[in-house]
Amino acid sequence: MQMLEVIHLQKYFNKGTANEVEALTDCSLVSAEGEFVVIIGANGSGKSTLLNLVAGTNLPDKGKIFIDKQDVTFRKDFQRSKWIARVFQDPMAGTASELTIIDNFRLAALRTKRKTFKTGINEAFIKTVRNRLSTLNLGLENKLNTVVGKLSGGQRQALTLLMAVMDDPKILLLDEPTAALDPKSSELISEMADDLIRQHTITALLVTHNMEYASKYGTRLIMMNQGKITIDISGEEKAKLTTDDLHRWFHQ
Ligand SMILES: Nc1ncnc2c1ncn2[C@@H]1O[C@H](COP(=O)(O)OP(=O)(O)OP(=O)(O)O)[C@@H](O)[C@H]1O
Ligand SMILES: [Mg+2]
Repeated sequence: MQMLEVIHLQKYFNKGTANEVEALTDCSLVSAEGEFVVIIGANGSGKSTLLNLVAGTNLPDKGKIFIDKQDVTFRKDFQRSKWIARVFQDPMAGTASELTIIDNFRLAALRTKRKTFKTGINEAFIKTVRNRLSTLNLGLENKLNTVVGKLSGGQRQALTLLMAVMDDPKILLLDEPTAALDPKSSELISEMADDLIRQHTITALLVTHNMEYASKYGTRLIMMNQGKITIDISGEEKAKLTTDDLHRWFHQ
């Protein structure tokens, strides 16, 4: 089943001024439920803009966006949050420093306001959070009342990711989620994302500049160049791609 349909998207910034940029020229992408799309491309090729348009942070100048068959093109980001969860590059962006781990989870549960995951101070909620945290093997399940500001960037990013999928989003947008992390934390977060995407059958878009991850993860790989998708490979062909192949694409 199709989960995300992006049709002929065009996006300008500063239109009609000397600083006009055409960030997306004609970008189309149809993605099935549970598909894990890795997005690569040079700086400024439009990757983050595409994710921002899917999330509704920015609206397109032309084109249409459908999520779960519904036309969301002109819906605001908060009107799409029931479908979409996001993880950004900055580990500080996804969690509130002054709040404890458990309060961050409560906040995350409140944000989507869905019925599947009841919020509150009840034992069931705490137990669920503790169980999910224990799967990370970071010992965070014993630190529920620790303020998040005391955790490392990698631990915070792990929390952000876990909170993101807690309420079963249909679409997960990951914009360079490991770019600010050390190699070991990057591995942990990447593996964790891969597991969660499979377990929850999430349609995921992962932007990365790490070619090793781009060849290792995902069921589909797209390359963007000057606001367009120029390469789109999935299935067995995707599985066979090596980092050398990907590096070569950047020099074509
Ligand atoms: N809010 C904005 N205002 C003006 N120009 C913008 C804005 N956001 C993006 N752009 C421009 O749009 C183009 C695409 O930017 P975008 O951030 O989508 O690239 P990217 O592929 O994510 O790059 P990177 O790999 O560096 O993150 C760039 O030329 C960028 O300068
Ligand atoms: Mg970007």
